[in-house]
Amino acid sequence: MLQESHEAARDVRAVVLVVDDDEGLRESCRLILEEEFDVLDAPDATQGLETLRRHEVDVVLLDVRLPGMDGLEALRHIKALDEHVEVILVTAVRTVRTAVTAMKLGAFDYLTKPFEEEEVLGLVRRALDRRALRREVTFLRSELARQENGRDIVGQAPEMRRLFQLIAQVARTNATVLITGESGTGKELVARAIHRQGPRWEKPFVPVNPAAISETLIESELFGHERGAFTGAFQKKLGRFELAQAGTLFLDEIGTLKAELQAKLLRVLQEREIERVGGTRRIGLDVRIIAATNADLKRAVATQTFREDLYYRLNVVPIAVPPLRSRREDVGLLVDHFINKYNRQFGKRITGVSAEALAALTDYDWPGNVRELQNIIERSVALVETPLIQIGDLPVEITLGERHLRLGDAPLHPLGTALDQFERNLILRVLERVTWNQSKAAAVLGLHRNTLLRKIAKWGLSPPNTD
Ligand SMILES: Nc1ncnc2c1ncn2[C@@H]1O[C@H](COP(=O)(O)OP(=O)(O)OP(=O)(O)O)[C@@H](O)[C@H]1O
Ligand SMILES: [Mg+2]
Repeated sequence: MLQESHEAARDVRAVVLVVDDDEGLRESCRLILEEEFDVLDAPDATQGLETLRRHEVDVVLLDVRLPGMDGLEALRHIKALDEHVEVILVTAVRTVRTAVTAMKLGAFDYLTKPFEEEEVLGLVRRALDRRALRREVTFLRSELARQENGRDIVGQAPEMRRLFQLIAQVARTNATVLITGESGTGKELVARAIHRQGPRWEKPFVPVNPAAISETLIESELFGHERGAFTGAFQKKLGRFELAQAGTLFLDEIGTLKAELQAKLLRVLQEREIERVGGTRRIGLDVRIIAATNADLKRAVATQTFREDLYYRLNVVPIAVPPLRSRREDVGLLVDHFINKYNRQFGKRITGVSAEALAALTDYDWPGNVRELQNIIERSVALVETPLIQIGDLPVEITLGERHLRLGDAPLHPLGTALDQFERNLILRVLERVTWNQSKAAAVLGLHRNTLLRKIAKWGLSPPNTD
């Protein structure tokens, strides 16, 4: 059903900068590295640093003995400029003292002249691996806690089974996905599941919610900035797009994007390149995009608050997450799931909810969807001291929900209803005590047997199944 995406993962070449005063050496490095990497060079440290300020560089091959500023001093400057650049020092004479200083200053490794082609290539490749790794570690650490929390999407309703299937299918592709659904339905969980089940699972999953970022910072947050791009930009900073390299970028609440950013995002999606704020170089992107919205984007397109071209770029594979009220059969499962979760968190031993409480929870309309249910269970588990959560422990909006009272449906007779309820329950209890012997029940209740029969019929009461 889904086709492999045409936006095949694009090769983004790493950039190596060679700083050496020996032109012959610069040339031979270029020849060795050129096939695999983009190569820049500089004859001294000052020009090398200038290149670093203007270009995106991943690895620097740095001669220790340079005219003017020497290699160790240059290393210090490079790391101050951007600590994620990996530096390999190149030297003719290997001394322990220089090696120790270099490592302390954060150099990746040491290369002694003359060197073999394979030696250089191997070292640069390993430096790149470490750079990618370090960039990810930062993100993965902060992501780990959240992923552990929301590891599984709970649900057995047919709509949820279809959703799981769709997630599995689309995870295998690189296609851009637009997830729609009311607030609290689990859109972010779905996005994470797509990422986790796909080939990019080991790469970063980077969420960004433009609505939560101030307007003045948003561009630099998304696209990064160069050092000195604006007042206060003391250091180069990677944007969310770049942090997501080789992984997935999750654009949350996409419906809130201002027109200007919509245009910028469209360009990024078309060209798969970004430019940092204050930058001059375009940086290739290999990022899978998943967007989410609880707004009706189609209507936003119709009213011209959302660009149509951007809408179609994002809506390659649409995934709709159903509201909780359309899959009430999942309420019980979710209740158990969250009771487990908060038992662990609060060190409690709540065993479940009473039948009556479950009925009320199942009947409720859940405007805040799963998040609302989660909050209510969290609160109950925290407060309740009995093993079972009772109906009285739930908030009034649930026990006296609109569905229960049917406001607007029919005129309300609270007293009549209450008396009716009372009578019905009394009769039911007596019938149960006399094991549905109607004459006995009528005698106990002081009613004529025919009156009792009429009431039993009116309420549709019947004995429990005894087989
Ligand atoms: N099917 C589910 N199973 C387990 N937990 C769920 C499920 N759906 C949602 N949740 C939990 O409910 C909370 C809300 O989910 P999530 O943040 O993914 O919703 P959302 O659709 O992104 O909401 P919003 O539009 O408000 O951002 C999260 O804590 C999530 O772990
Ligand atoms: Mg969300």
